[in-house]
Amino acid sequence: MFIKYDESNRIFHLQSGDASYVLGVTKQGYLAHYYWGRKVRGTALNRLLELKERCSFIPSTDLGQKELSLDTLPQEYPSFGSSDFRTPAFQVQLADGTTVTELVYDSHRVIPGKPGLPGLPGVYAEDASEAETLEIVLKDAHSGLRVTLSYTVFEHHNAIARSANIGNDSGLPIQLLRAYSASFDLPHDRFEMLQLSGTWVRERYVHKRKLVPGMQSVESRRGSSSHMQNPFIALLGEGSTETQGDVYGVSLVYSGSFAAGVEVDQFHTSRVFAGLNSFDFSWLLEPGESFQTPEAILVFSDAGLGGMSRGYHDLYRSRLCRGAFRDQARPILINNWEATYFKFNADKIEDIARAGKELGIELFVLDDGWFGKRDSDNSSLGDWFVDRNKLPNGLTDLVSRVNSLGMEFGLWFEPEMVSPDSELYRRNPDWCLHVDGRRRTQARQQHILDMSRQDVQDYIVESLSAILSSAPITYVKWDMNRNMTEIGSALLPANRQRETAHRYMLGLYSVLERITTSFPHILFESCSGGGGRFDPGMLYYMPQTWTSDNSDAVSRLKIQYGTSIVYPISTMGSHVSAVPNHQVGRITSLETRGNVALSGNFGYELDLTQFSEEEKVQVKEQVAIYKNIRHLVQFGDFYRLLSPFEGNETAWMYVSKDKSEAAVVFVSVLQEPNPPLDRFRLQGLDPAADYVLQGSGIAYGGDELMYAGLATPQFNSDFASKLYHFKKSE
Ligand code: DGJ
Repeated sequence: MFIKYDESNRIFHLQSGDASYVLGVTKQGYLAHYYWGRKVRGTALNRLLELKERCSFIPSTDLGQKELSLDTLPQEYPSFGSSDFRTPAFQVQLADGTTVTELVYDSHRVIPGKPGLPGLPGVYAEDASEAETLEIVLKDAHSGLRVTLSYTVFEHHNAIARSANIGNDSGLPIQLLRAYSASFDLPHDRFEMLQLSGTWVRERYVHKRKLVPGMQSVESRRGSSSHMQNPFIALLGEGSTETQGDVYGVSLVYSGSFAAGVEVDQFHTSRVFAGLNSFDFSWLLEPGESFQTPEAILVFSDAGLGGMSRGYHDLYRSRLCRGAFRDQARPILINNWEATYFKFNADKIEDIARAGKELGIELFVLDDGWFGKRDSDNSSLGDWFVDRNKLPNGLTDLVSRVNSLGMEFGLWFEPEMVSPDSELYRRNPDWCLHVDGRRRTQARQQHILDMSRQDVQDYIVESLSAILSSAPITYVKWDMNRNMTEIGSALLPANRQRETAHRYMLGLYSVLERITTSFPHILFESCSGGGGRFDPGMLYYMPQTWTSDNSDAVSRLKIQYGTSIVYPISTMGSHVSAVPNHQVGRITSLETRGNVALSGNFGYELDLTQFSEEEKVQVKEQVAIYKNIRHLVQFGDFYRLLSPFEGNETAWMYVSKDKSEAAVVFVSVLQEPNPPLDRFRLQGLDPAADYVLQGSGIAYGGDELMYAGLATPQFNSDFASKLYHFKKSE
């Protein structure tokens, strides 16, 4: 029993892992938020409510209890227009044109396990006994609006999955204007808000700001979760660090436009919210219809940011990612993009694959340029048939040439797009997002297919399935290289045009479900110009994402560190590329490129045939090292030790679940003259055990490594790094 109900006080106590989340129904029927934090035993936390009569400007909905006001009551899914002036969790326009609602408790039930969200990604319970779900029905009696809030708690995860289902029992049409997944009010504002923001080739940098009165939020209006913002925020309590303090995470399982933020009110309470972006959104709810929001995953940790991250990592790795690859070691790959770009033929591909095989690499990935007449990014998206000029004997022949070397074969697609210069566009000019009579703005010379249309969805499923069934392809890179403009659908009526962006996401999710379940033996990796759609929604369908188009080892320190705040290491694609680096021109050693890239799903993205004999020996060694620590990187616990946002050194480590083995990566960006002496401390080890540093035979105490630390390695060049591999002594 993870959900307790105290009937006399009408209080729900949700216990997830080490945390308690307590909510309840007030005397007037409002759903109030009482507490979220470290686990407590009792339930009567309604006594924490500080009810006092405020100035006359604060309205009260209960003349008999003037100290009760919706404007000061901490709530779970606040309405608009009936006396709470803070940001509402939802808003509707009723058939009479008004926007006022007031939700009160109607009923609730607790069910074992977790029901899936129809058509939407979400975390899941593999066995009904590992989770419990509370559903609370709230109603606005005046209009007939019904809201069902879902809360799932897991026995072994410090996480709560929240979503809302908004139903129309009014008998008249209702226009839904906002529908957040979660909202809750924390009792003070002594927090820093952490967000992961950036741009293309600089994704998910860590930014923190102290909360101030008013609104602070992150959002995307791009039709995708985006490079610029990530659907995640964390609130860091006073004094919290990587290893201690109360941290609250809110992560949205959605890949489209979103909003997440905090409004600090006049009494310094913090209203936290996350959901679909209500900007440019509305949804017509006909009588009897309902709308399901995506879900938000809330994780609390009293062990600092690192504790929160590991909470997300464990949940997302094991109960968000699905399919055969969830628990399987991911292959080391060689991708030809930065090796050849669009200029290749079958012989060149075979040469690169052969060189890869000789070095121990397991999978070859053919990137962009194999289809239509795609010699540049000017054409052919949508024409998913092989370019016989480049591959005269077709794909089947190429796959069998690569397979016969002992390598698996993977293929790139950008299924959601269409080039104006393509057979598909000439045949179906209406199939892209557009607004009649307006310019169709291009980005990377391409338009976005209207995934809200069934015919478009079917075309994508059929054309990709034909290719995927034509040869033993075991990996797909699913790319998406632009954001939405002129968001309109040719098939939707005028009063549903603002549904287009969300309908696109539902269409995309449906296509992904159909394709990934039809080809369960294929490992899918999502990509959006690198990490432009690195979000939990995509991870539900594809268990890994190409982290960034920036493959420079030094840039990757910040990108991978920031990404690790929420996302498991097993979800990050990470490759060694050529120097000077193609994105930033930096020259780094092969050793450092390897050490950074092996902190993820490892691979190479350069022309292996150009390597010298000496480099080949080094790569062979890197591949062997990765194979040796792959289980730690992909399935171990991850600890951030030194932040690239705070200094010249970065360090992180992986510890096996049974604490018998660990790997540490240390990188120094610039070589300091006559550098200071220092130490850095490890985490997550067994203090009572001894660990032998592999290759040296020297044993260290787990306590020593964690409390006294290791001497900071000394280097004599810029961009230097060191990898340590420890094993518990027998
Ligand atoms: C963007 C991706 O992020 C790259 O890795 C590469 O696949 C190109 N697209 C191909 O056009």
